[in-house]
Amino acid sequence: MTSPHLQLVQLSRPATTPKVMVELSVDGHSVKVPEGSTILNACQQLGIEVPTLCWLETLKPVNVCRVCVVEVEGARVLVPSCSRTVEPGMKVKTRSDRVNLTRRLVLEMLASSVDLSTAPGMAEMLAEYDAKPERFGPDAETVAQPVKVDNDLYIRDYAKCVLCYKCVEACGEDHQNTFAIAVAGRGFHAHISTEFVVELPESACVYCGNCIAVCPTGALMSKREWELRQAGTWNESKQTATDTVCPFCGVGCTLTLHVQDGEIVKATSPLDNDITVGNLCIKGRFGWRHVQNGHASRGPSADPTAPRAPANH
Ligand code: SF4
Ligand code: SF4
Ligand code: FES
Repeated sequence: MTSPHLQLVQLSRPATTPKVMVELSVDGHSVKVPEGSTILNACQQLGIEVPTLCWLETLKPVNVCRVCVVEVEGARVLVPSCSRTVEPGMKVKTRSDRVNLTRRLVLEMLASSVDLSTAPGMAEMLAEYDAKPERFGPDAETVAQPVKVDNDLYIRDYAKCVLCYKCVEACGEDHQNTFAIAVAGRGFHAHISTEFVVELPESACVYCGNCIAVCPTGALMSKREWELRQAGTWNESKQTATDTVCPFCGVGCTLTLHVQDGEIVKATSPLDNDITVGNLCIKGRFGWRHVQNGHASRGPSADPTAPRAPANH
């Protein structure tokens, strides 16, 4: 029997405000996306491919590469689709002559000054837009410079840097909050640098390698991958990727182990993992080398006696 002093209360979830949807058209196709979405989000919903370089779903857009530009009816200039939010009635063209010409020029300027040989999908993109970087001539200024190999965990090859800022964002407020690197210099001489240009072991770097995970060109690369590429034996078609759980601490980050010829050659974490969002710490990213203990033939990085402990971690 219910006490006269007790009242039954109906428990329910708080009502959620329905999302305001915005309708626009992209290449003649009508689409509705939640208010605040970007044009790129709308294109993705329609399955329309738009190239990107400095954009990543886990980072705040920085709008620096301009390969994602699209044409918006009535707008004076092309707009970066990765950061421009949708407006009702917007009419967007993703492959007009203006868009194609601009993307081609952007790609040509990048490819004439930067080594894009290890940027995934770049050869296909250059071909798709008929980019001819060689038309700037053999004397075109470049960012060519020696590879920085100053620690045992990862290398920095800024001859391959397109200055997309992704590593800066990942090291800074978007993920790691370490702020070991930033953009220094102006104009063509702008470049990624540690504070006071110190070598990595003397910098604030904690070797999480989250910068490597977001770099779109291979400018930042684990030492082991770089060694195998130098030896001509890096072969992604022979690699398998297996998800497992990092054994080093109770956080239990999801690790994806990339294995080639029976050797772990790289560890990453999936971008769509709610806990890691693609990030790891030094142990998850690089701590797998002990698995290859005693296999000196697998290179100096696999030798447990070889690595020097980084200065700061
Ligand atoms: S090192 Fe890589 S992630 Fe950093 S700015 Fe250069 S290309 Fe982008
Ligand atoms: S990657 Fe680092 S934080 Fe994540 S489980 Fe491994 S040791 Fe812990
Ligand atoms: S991807 Fe949009 S500006 Fe770089």
